[in-house]
Amino acid sequence: MTRALRIAALALLPVAAAGCRDYKPAPPPEQPIAFYHNVHAGPVQEGGNAIPCMYCHYTADRSVDAGIPSVQLCVGCHVPGSSAPTALRGQAQLAFPRVKGNDSTWYREGLKLLNYWKNGEGIPWVRIHKLPEHARFPHYTHVNVGLECQTCHGPVEEIEEMYQFSSLRMGWCIDCHRGNMEISAKEEAAVQARSTFIRRFRALDAAGGDRRGQLATYPNQRASTDCMVCHY
Ligand code: HEC
Ligand code: HEC
Ligand code: HEC
Ligand code: HEC
Ligand code: HEC
Repeated sequence: MTRALRIAALALLPVAAAGCRDYKPAPPPEQPIAFYHNVHAGPVQEGGNAIPCMYCHYTADRSVDAGIPSVQLCVGCHVPGSSAPTALRGQAQLAFPRVKGNDSTWYREGLKLLNYWKNGEGIPWVRIHKLPEHARFPHYTHVNVGLECQTCHGPVEEIEEMYQFSSLRMGWCIDCHRGNMEISAKEEAAVQARSTFIRRFRALDAAGGDRRGQLATYPNQRASTDCMVCHY
C-alpha cells in the first residue's frame, strides 16, 4: 500500500483520541537490574548524583530514539580501569556503589551489572514506552524545540523505578500540538521562538496572508496536526 492509502485506511478505524484524561500508569515492570533513576539523576542535596538525562540518553537531541545506554557506559563509572584489556577484566572492582557490606541490595544489583559486562552481554532492559508501528515520534524535534524531558516523562529524577507517566495516546499529542496543554513559561518561550509551524504562520501573517482555518480555531497552536506528520 502507498503511504497515503495506509493513512486513509487508518482514518476508517475508530479514533480513541480522548483516552488520555483517565489514564492511570501501570506499575513499573521488573527490570533485570534495579536501576534507580533518583540515585543517578536526582539532585545532590537529596542524595542523588545529578547525572544529566542526556549523559545516558545521549541521542535524544539528534535521533528519533532517545536511546538506552550500553553496558559500556555503566561500566565507565562503575568499574575502575574498565578500559583495561579483556584479560584484566576479571580483576575489575566495583567502584560504585560504595560497598558497605556484601549483602546490601545495591551491592547485589551492582554485581549483576558486573556479570553482564564480564560475559559480554547486553542488559535485557524491559522496554516501557512503545508507540504502535503506525505512529512516529521524533525525540530530536521535541528536545531541540525546547521541551523538557519531564514534561512528557514526569519527575524522573525523583523516582526509583521507571514507569510510563503520560498516556502517549493520540489525544495527548494533539493536545500539546494545538496549544491546549500547558507547558512551563521557559518552554513556551523556546517553542514560540523555534517552532517551524509557528514561524511559518508568522511569515504568512507578515506577508498579509490568509490565516483562516486551523489557526482560527486553535490560535495557540504549536505544531502541525496533519495525519501525515505522525502516521506512516
Ligand atoms: C546513568 C544513566 C541514566 C540517567 C542519568 C538517566 N537514565 Fe533514563 N534510563 C536509563 C536506563 C538504564 C534505562 C532502562 C532501565 C529503566 O527503565 O529503568 C532508562 C530508562 C528511561 C526511560 C524509559 C525507557 C523505556 O523503556 O521506555 C525514560 C523515559 C528515561 N529513562 C528518562 C530519563 C530522564 C528524563 C532522565 C533525567 C531526569 C534520565 N532518564 C536519566 C539510564 C539513565
Ligand atoms: C556517570 C556515572 C554513572 C553512570 C554512567 C552509571 N552509574 Fe550507576 N551509580 C553511580 C553512582 C555515583 C551511584 C551511587 C553510588 C553511591 O552512592 O554509593 C550509582 C549507583 C548505582 C546502583 C545502586 C543504586 C541503584 O540504582 O540501584 C546500581 C545498581 C547502578 N548504579 C547501576 C548502573 C547501571 C546499570 C548503569 C548503566 C545503565 C549505571 N549505573 C550507570 C554512577 C553512575
Ligand atoms: C514531547 C514529549 C517527549 C519529550 C519532551 C521527551 N520524550 Fe522521551 N518519549 C516520548 C514518547 C512519546 C516516547 C515513545 C516513543 C516510541 O515508542 O516511539 C518516548 C520514549 C523515550 C525513551 C524510550 C526509548 C527510546 O529510545 O525512545 C526514552 C529513554 C526517553 N523517551 C527519554 C527521554 C529523555 C531523556 C528526554 C529528554 C532529553 C525525553 N525522552 C523527552 C515523549 C517525549
Ligand atoms: C501529533 C501526532 C498525531 C497526529 C497529527 C495524528 N495522529 Fe493518529 N495517532 C497518533 C498516535 C501517537 C497514535 C497511537 C496512540 C493511540 O492509539 O492513541 C495514533 C493513533 C491513531 C489511530 C488508532 C486509534 C486506536 O484506537 O487504535 C487512528 C485511527 C489515527 N491515529 C488516525 C489519525 C488521523 C485520521 C489523523 C489526522 C486527522 C491523525 N491520526 C493525526 C498520533 C497522531
Ligand atoms: C508538550 C508538547 C508536545 C507533545 C506532548 C507532543 N509534541 Fe510533537 N511537537 C511539539 C512541538 C512544539 C513540535 C515542533 C513543531 C515545529 O517545529 O513545527 C512538535 C513536532 C512534532 C513532529 C514533527 C512535525 C513536523 O512538522 O515535522 C512530530 C512528527 C510530532 N511532533 C509527533 C508527536 C507525537 C506522535 C506525539 C505524541 C506521542 C507528540 N508529538 C507529542 C510539541 C509536542
